Amino acid sequence: MKTLGLQLRFLIPLILILAGAAYLAVPVMDRLTLRWFARDLDMRGVLVANALSESVAEAASDTRGRKLQALFSRAVLDERLVAIGLCSPTGELLRRTDHFPKDMTCVQAEDLANSKGTNLHIEGGPVHVSVHPVASEAGPVGELVLMHDLSFIERRSQDTRRYLVILITGLGAVIALVTLIVAQLSWRGWIAGTRALLHGEGLLRPNSPVFPELAPLAADLRERLREVEDEYKRLQGADADWTPHRLQTLLRTQMRGDQVIVVSNREPYMHERGAGGIEIRRPASGLVTAVEPVMRACSGTWIAHGSGSADREVVDRHDHVALPPGHDEYLLRRIWLTPEQEQGYYYGFANEGLWPLCHVAHVRPVFRESDWEHYKRVNRLFADAVVAEARSEDPVILVQDYHFALVPAMVRERLPRATILSFWHIPWPNPESFGICPWRAEILEGMLGSTIMGFHTQFHCKNFMETVDRYLEARIEHEHSTITFHGDPTFVEAYPISIEWPLPEQARTWPSVGQCRSELMERLDIPRDHRIAVGVDRFDYTKGILERLHAVERMLEKYPEWQKRFTFVQVAAPSRGALEEYRLFQQRIAAQVDRINDRFGRPGAPVIRLLAQHHEHDEVTKLYRAADVCLVTSLHDGMNLVCKEFIAARDDERGVLILSRFAGAARELTEALIVNPYHVEETADALFHALTMPPGEQRERMASLRSTVHEFNVYRWAGRMLSDAARLRLRQRVSTRVQRHAGSGTIVPLSRKSTRS
Ligand code: G6P
Repeated sequence: MKTLGLQLRFLIPLILILAGAAYLAVPVMDRLTLRWFARDLDMRGVLVANALSESVAEAASDTRGRKLQALFSRAVLDERLVAIGLCSPTGELLRRTDHFPKDMTCVQAEDLANSKGTNLHIEGGPVHVSVHPVASEAGPVGELVLMHDLSFIERRSQDTRRYLVILITGLGAVIALVTLIVAQLSWRGWIAGTRALLHGEGLLRPNSPVFPELAPLAADLRERLREVEDEYKRLQGADADWTPHRLQTLLRTQMRGDQVIVVSNREPYMHERGAGGIEIRRPASGLVTAVEPVMRACSGTWIAHGSGSADREVVDRHDHVALPPGHDEYLLRRIWLTPEQEQGYYYGFANEGLWPLCHVAHVRPVFRESDWEHYKRVNRLFADAVVAEARSEDPVILVQDYHFALVPAMVRERLPRATILSFWHIPWPNPESFGICPWRAEILEGMLGSTIMGFHTQFHCKNFMETVDRYLEARIEHEHSTITFHGDPTFVEAYPISIEWPLPEQARTWPSVGQCRSELMERLDIPRDHRIAVGVDRFDYTKGILERLHAVERMLEKYPEWQKRFTFVQVAAPSRGALEEYRLFQQRIAAQVDRINDRFGRPGAPVIRLLAQHHEHDEVTKLYRAADVCLVTSLHDGMNLVCKEFIAARDDERGVLILSRFAGAARELTEALIVNPYHVEETADALFHALTMPPGEQRERMASLRSTVHEFNVYRWAGRMLSDAARLRLRQRVSTRVQRHAGSGTIVPLSRKSTRS
């Protein structure tokens, strides 16, 4: 209807113009045809005069004039010839036929003939007058005045006028029809172009809008969205503290309480069958440490592999269990895997393939076709679970880690409007290293289903963008950190992960540092005068445990005075023990510990205590509080949260952190003693330095480290990601709104005025 209205607005003036043209053209046509006919009649007059001239000359000699009269009477039988007159050479009217006007003189007839276009009206209608000389051999006889009937011209003129009007009307109709068709096509093209633009095609690519004629609209829209973003950032107040409350407010206000779904392989709590019944265990996982407090703040649903031996016994019929135990703040949906699936997807592709591939820790990645098949199938299983858990078509989905590289694109297919935030908890290598993966393109394509792709550091983001650039046909805009693949943009950003702060309620009940120390010494039978260093890791070859042992050995060698005053406690939580690489690594470490203890320990007082079992969070906290030094010597680590947990545990502002430069955390925690773990001498010296560091310096460093972890806590990590997601959702909603208006024919004007003051 609207388009018809618009077209009528164009057609009515067109019809009026055509009618005006017809109105003006008819008299012009009349005049033209009259002139043509007058010329024809003049020629006809010449012919008639020539034909009559001899007879007239001869008849003129008849003084009674009978012959002439008879001749003229015959001539006017011609229906076009109305009257004839003969004038003498002196201008006297000698003869005339009946219809020749009685009072017309020869002079008047001459005048009429000379004035072209002026016709005479006699009784029968308009006549055309022409004068022709007649001569005989003897000389001039006179002049023949011929009057031709003009009334037929009138009739022809009417015919011409009719044809003209029909022609112009027909022409108008054809023009109108063509105009309608062209207008319809252009309108549809324009609407389609605008819609494509609002869907993002061309919007995120400033120099190449899909439809060049829409470039000004694209520029306006882009500018308006940036203004909205700026305003949003300004309202956020970048520097304010991030707390669970602020995160909840963000979810309530910016995300309008939208549903949050987390997907990870590792579950936050495992139910295990123990001697005393079902026991609850928190797995050793940086991912769980970080995401669990966020989930407590956000509520929502967490989808993870149910890997505990009693997991099935506690879920409801939808495989749901409310967590944390006794608090019921969020829901865990457990996914069950067969042993073959777990072997292929988790141990095989994820941990024998992607894990060493991304860590570049000198362990060869293994890629098996069968593992890849399981990986794809299990990713599909989790993507299906996301869709089943979604209560709306645009939930916020947090996809965690290298276990689920394919999930973002799989979910995107089914929930195109979902906001998918993927976070890669481990490092991303350079394009050459990643390029050895046989399914590199599929993995990258899967990840690019995300709305936001997060890494711990800018360096990992850069590696990822370069990898995409190398192996996919995608458009990369470095200045906006955006990769557009198949028309869908993914925002790539660094979000350094962290731990919860303010500290959990349990922190109030922590035993004092002195008490922790006494308990530990008692439990492990460590002499009272010993200084204690700790290492807390999963038993993993990327953690640099071997290098750490070498550094301890070297320190004792180099600074022998510490041989009787130092104990190193290494907690190594068993991990991925089904893999040979891990089993061999554990054996190797155990052998090294024995060797060093044989070398420096005394009977009953080993210098290194290897605690190769799972420790609950509270026990680890006590260990941190009891220690003088904490050693984190990862060979490569996305972030590493052990160092941040150590800092959080030291509310006495004592203790020294030795930190590998290859852990993402080294970029933030610059007051730690930063070492290259491959450089045994340097790490040994750092250990010595830590053991001898004056309390004042320890306090200064620790206070600064604590304020960093406080400020850059896990709520900031999640908050920044969710704020960016909210911004992108707002962008999408503005686009949808504008699109709706554009669809209804009303283009919402986009102000150019900046909201920035
Ligand atoms: C790393 C990974 C996590 C994983 C954790 C423990 O931190 O980034 O995704 O949960 O290791 O490994 P596991 O295989 O026991 O879950």
